[in-house]
Amino acid sequence: MPELNDAEELGVLATSLRRHLQRQERAGIRFFPKGDVKKETMAASDRNVLTGTEGDLFTDSSAAYQATNLEELRDAIGDCRRCKLWSGRTHLVFGVGNPRAKLMFVGEGPGRDEDLQGEPFVGRAGQLLTDIITKGMGLKREDVYICNVIKCRPPDNRNPEPDEVASCEPFLKKQVDLVKPEIIVGLGKFAVQTLLQTKAPITRIRGNWHSYHGIKLMPTLHPAYLLRNPADKKLVWEDIKKVMKEMHGENT
Ligand code: URA
Repeated sequence: MPELNDAEELGVLATSLRRHLQRQERAGIRFFPKGDVKKETMAASDRNVLTGTEGDLFTDSSAAYQATNLEELRDAIGDCRRCKLWSGRTHLVFGVGNPRAKLMFVGEGPGRDEDLQGEPFVGRAGQLLTDIITKGMGLKREDVYICNVIKCRPPDNRNPEPDEVASCEPFLKKQVDLVKPEIIVGLGKFAVQTLLQTKAPITRIRGNWHSYHGIKLMPTLHPAYLLRNPADKKLVWEDIKKVMKEMHGENT
């Protein structure tokens, strides 16, 4: 093996530590730096979507943790190589829409069209989501914020793997923290199960309100699923009507 200089050796050590922490995390063991232990005993009201992420991947990207707006966050993510998906991507698909949106849609990860264009939900499934937003809800795409759990396209549209989610989810949490939506619509099994940390089937949890770190979350079916099962569009419409009611304060 060739001799490594100090910087290279440090890089190898950092990567191996990060992988070790990711493995620990997947095994349910979380690492809290000493100073953060008190967060474990924080009052629930003091917790937010970022609570706990300081001991997560943000340790090696504090610029992302410190970002005060979406542009700074995007810059901090940079030419991301934190997981293996970087090598197959054309574009990292960060997110799009109103940085102060009341309503946020979260999907799984970019598909082929999104990877090519660098924007979430622009393919056929994306057109259906756009129709739901514009024709169904009477909003513009620019009124809402749209992003995904993972920012780079998995090969052959396979499901994202746990290490990929572990690398990318802190950035989603930071997006949520910056946009501060009142309502999140989780699109499809993968996004919803990741957000809610559950294995419950989407068919059982869709249509009911849940909480994502204190933010109302409505799980619904993925637009790509609806393209294959158009008869289930009526279920999504029921879920979206609940979201509209909540947005207009009719449930308060
Ligand atoms: N499916 C997703 O989950 N996200 C996209 O951006 C496109 C398709």
